[in-house]
Amino acid sequence: MRAHEVECLPGSEPVSRTIRSVMTPKVWKPDIYAKNARYVSDLGMPVLELLNPQSGERILDLGCGDGELTRILQDRGCDTVGIDPSAEFIAVARKFDLDVRKQDARELEFEAEFDAVFSNAVLHWIGEADLVIENVYRALRRGGRFVGEFGGYGNCAAIEQALVGELKLRGIDASTANPWYFPTADEYRDRLAAAGFRVRYIELIPRPTRLPGGMPGFLETFADSFASLIVPDQREGFLLAVCDRLEPLLGTNGEWIADYVRLRFEAIKGRP
Ligand code: BEZ
Repeated sequence: MRAHEVECLPGSEPVSRTIRSVMTPKVWKPDIYAKNARYVSDLGMPVLELLNPQSGERILDLGCGDGELTRILQDRGCDTVGIDPSAEFIAVARKFDLDVRKQDARELEFEAEFDAVFSNAVLHWIGEADLVIENVYRALRRGGRFVGEFGGYGNCAAIEQALVGELKLRGIDASTANPWYFPTADEYRDRLAAAGFRVRYIELIPRPTRLPGGMPGFLETFADSFASLIVPDQREGFLLAVCDRLEPLLGTNGEWIADYVRLRFEAIKGRP
């Protein structure tokens, strides 16, 4: 048995619990993201098909990350702009000759410029939902569409509860460290409508998702704001304890399956 693996019931394989690196405060690391989370853009194809991008359309990819989906839009003949607040991701995306800009969705200054704004797996990182929706609305031409997908209500709930629970055991209140916003369809529909959008479609979609880097890879990539509340020499133990809690729920036959729930939507700009 390797370090940090545990014995399992007969008939089931052990899931990997090796924590490869101890976390530091959040900075996106494109190599770690590509290793542990490439599935995020791969699984973005259904929302990209909902967007139904047409050649010649001017499309903003909001939170383009390393540009994987922006490239597909460009390959389909769209005139794309990608924005992302991460300088590290933008540096990777630029290698693909994309128009990508280091910019935060809360500070968008585009006006009536885009046929569509597209966003995959980003909006759950931004608590100021109304501000982002207003900025998207302004960026769109009349009749333009806002098509996106992100974590919805119940997304990764077991993982979130395990992180919060292990922090609580250590006397730490996670409420200020939790960076995730996972709304219900009703809540997000109301927000879109309040900004003037006509919501053509919105749905919560449970999507159990195999984690190629296991739970350690997920936590390494996405949960650093929780782990940063723990003193550095105790972080590995904290993350292992989180894995211990989650294994009976999400570990199966040597694989980790995360309890993803997506919120997918399409909304049309009504008023000018
Ligand atoms: C998501 O893409 O749904 C997600 C990302 C990080 C943490 C939790 C969920």
